[in-house]
Amino acid sequence: MFRKLRFKKPVSRAEDTPIESEEQAESAEPVDLDKGQSISERKAAEDAFNRARDNTYDPLLRVTEVKRTFQVGSERIQVLKGINMEVSQGQLVMLKGRSGSGKTTLLNMLGGLDLPTEGEIWFKNEPFSTWSDEKRTYTRRQDIGFIFQAFALMPLLSAYENVELSLRMAKVPKSLWKPRVQHCLELVGLGKRMNHRPYEMSGGEQQRVAIAKAIAHKPLLLLADEPTADLDTQMVAQVMGVFHQIIRTENISICMTTHDPTILEVADHVYEMVDGRFVSKVGAAPTV
Ligand SMILES: Nc1ncnc2c1ncn2[C@@H]1O[C@H](COP(=O)(O)OP(=O)(O)O)[C@@H](O)[C@H]1O
Ligand SMILES: [Mg+2]
Repeated sequence: MFRKLRFKKPVSRAEDTPIESEEQAESAEPVDLDKGQSISERKAAEDAFNRARDNTYDPLLRVTEVKRTFQVGSERIQVLKGINMEVSQGQLVMLKGRSGSGKTTLLNMLGGLDLPTEGEIWFKNEPFSTWSDEKRTYTRRQDIGFIFQAFALMPLLSAYENVELSLRMAKVPKSLWKPRVQHCLELVGLGKRMNHRPYEMSGGEQQRVAIAKAIAHKPLLLLADEPTADLDTQMVAQVMGVFHQIIRTENISICMTTHDPTILEVADHVYEMVDGRFVSKVGAAPTV
């Protein structure tokens, strides 16, 4: 009964897929992912995860002339009107704009949850937006982390179990789960709260668990949709502090949306969106 209420069907197909997968992962019996692997295969999988993400992509993400049109009844609404942007490795990039300007629509596309009507998105030097659903889903689980409303924490699971879920979904060898979950929760300052469930935590703490969950599988790119909305000033500072720390220590790039003007100065680049277009880009000189 409770489960039915929590997982009532989302409106868009884009949000649909990952939630259902997580639900399956949550309700399924724990699977021994390592089962059936030879010792050398298991070792190779462990080594691959333990190795630092030392690949360099320049840029990590490139968006060219992306447009997105939705058909609503007999009307076609153009929500994105030709977006060009880049995210380099180790950068914190912010998309700023009023509600309805198209930020979430763009972020969904950067994560491969939705596809452009026109234009292309390249990720890791590959044409991500031309791939099949299956291939995009695989890459999303391996290389991208999300902090979206739709990917919020599972209320019945502890902080530890919530973070573990990402590793399970990314098929990380089971032997590595415990140290990685502990490391990620310590990184966000919640090492002592591992066994607490979301309802026992403040909004800021829950958001930090969501960060730990989003980075546990060592994604290259973290996408965060208004991660500081609903938080008070002190908690916003904590979350931004954690973002800076993970950029330094986890070799990750972050692209987040916000309409909070007070946090823009900590970004490498700020793209300002108005009605489906970027009207300005502010930021440091390109890194050399
Ligand atoms: N699936 C959809 N069908 C029709 N219109 C949509 C859909 N998704 C978003 N929109 C419209 O696109 C516009 C931008 O939405 P959104 O990307 O959520 O903006 P933001 O995140 O900046 O608030 C809004 O007018 C919204 O109604
Ligand atoms: Mg939005």
